[in-house]
Amino acid sequence: MIYLDNAATSFPKPEAVYQELDRFARRSLANPGRAGHRMAMAAEKMLDDVRHALNQFFRGEAPDRWIFTLNCTDALNMAIKGIVQEGDHVVLTDLEHNSISRPIRALEKAGKITSTRVVSRDGYVAAEDVAAAITPKTTLVAMTHASNVLGTVQPIAAVAQAVRAAGALFLVDAAQSAGVVPIDLKATPIDLLALPGHKGLYGPTGTGALYVGPRVDGRIRAWREGGTGGDSSSELQPTLRPYFLEGGSPNVLGLAGLGKGIAWVAERGPDALRKHEVGLLQQVVDWAGRSEGWRVAGRWDPETHVGALSLFTPDGLPPQDLAAILDVTFDIAVRPGLHCAPYIHRNLGSFPDGLLRLSPSPFTTSDEIAQFLGALSEITAGVA
Ligand SMILES: Cc1ncc(COP(=O)(O)O)c(C=O)c1O
Repeated sequence: MIYLDNAATSFPKPEAVYQELDRFARRSLANPGRAGHRMAMAAEKMLDDVRHALNQFFRGEAPDRWIFTLNCTDALNMAIKGIVQEGDHVVLTDLEHNSISRPIRALEKAGKITSTRVVSRDGYVAAEDVAAAITPKTTLVAMTHASNVLGTVQPIAAVAQAVRAAGALFLVDAAQSAGVVPIDLKATPIDLLALPGHKGLYGPTGTGALYVGPRVDGRIRAWREGGTGGDSSSELQPTLRPYFLEGGSPNVLGLAGLGKGIAWVAERGPDALRKHEVGLLQQVVDWAGRSEGWRVAGRWDPETHVGALSLFTPDGLPPQDLAAILDVTFDIAVRPGLHCAPYIHRNLGSFPDGLLRLSPSPFTTSDEIAQFLGALSEITAGVA
């Protein structure tokens, strides 16, 4: 299969990740515990190593500020539900994935908070528009770093400055940027960074992380409480980071794999990985430019793009049908529809059918993209 659905989860993983999953599962798959037996302590040490790796890669303040989560959705929920209080105002944008939109909308519908959704233009949100949406009641600005529909990278450094100046907290959804766009937490005032381990960092599914910066201290509530492998006599969740936010047995196996994924990405560098993917997308953009009925969604700028791109399809060829034909007849995996981000599709005029999204990876070749485009041409010719 030609797998062009890496924005959902990356496949394949680097060989080192598969090897570590096998090795760890056979030899070290114990439940971590700070005062436990050697295997438990070894598992704890592995978690610690991965926290260090994340902290180094994203230049955070300290390894214990990295909270392991199940995925990016889990991290975003932990941040939003842990921070927002009754009476607060929250700013978000029309590019958001439902993992930001739904928790905020649910709080709003329950009458607890108010929110403002900033509108993007051509796939980009302007920092001035976010700044203008902030009110004295705004406690949180939550936005995606790169659109999962359009692949456009947002000006989060400028937004971060505006949010900091206004005194609110800034939550960044790095689902599509972690591993391909450098993020420097020392240089950019991001308070909460949510990321999946299973996309651009090449860990398995079931991995993710939330970075909690110093301004969050004392303000975030644990939304999941339980055993932490230590301080068992305490009636309440121990306040020590990272355990405060990490109740329950962690996904040690997945995180062992994630450690190898981060090392693989760090060795190559996010820029090189992004450029490879964007180079492949350029082939698609050029093809769409000379093919009738096909149109790239959002403004194409290879300098501010990650490896995801959506296409408007010719009349009479709904994205769902195209994706099914690509899958069954051509053995090509893409993602049609709304991509869990309905508001941007309303903005683009592609609601409710959505668009056809492809998302290559560092393992995708130019020849595979040529096969994909050949398949699209063939399908289109068959319908014309
Ligand atoms: C922009 C964005 N945010 C959040 C998520 C949710 O990530 P996860 O699948 O890790 O829960 C996704 C998933 O595709 C995404 O693209």
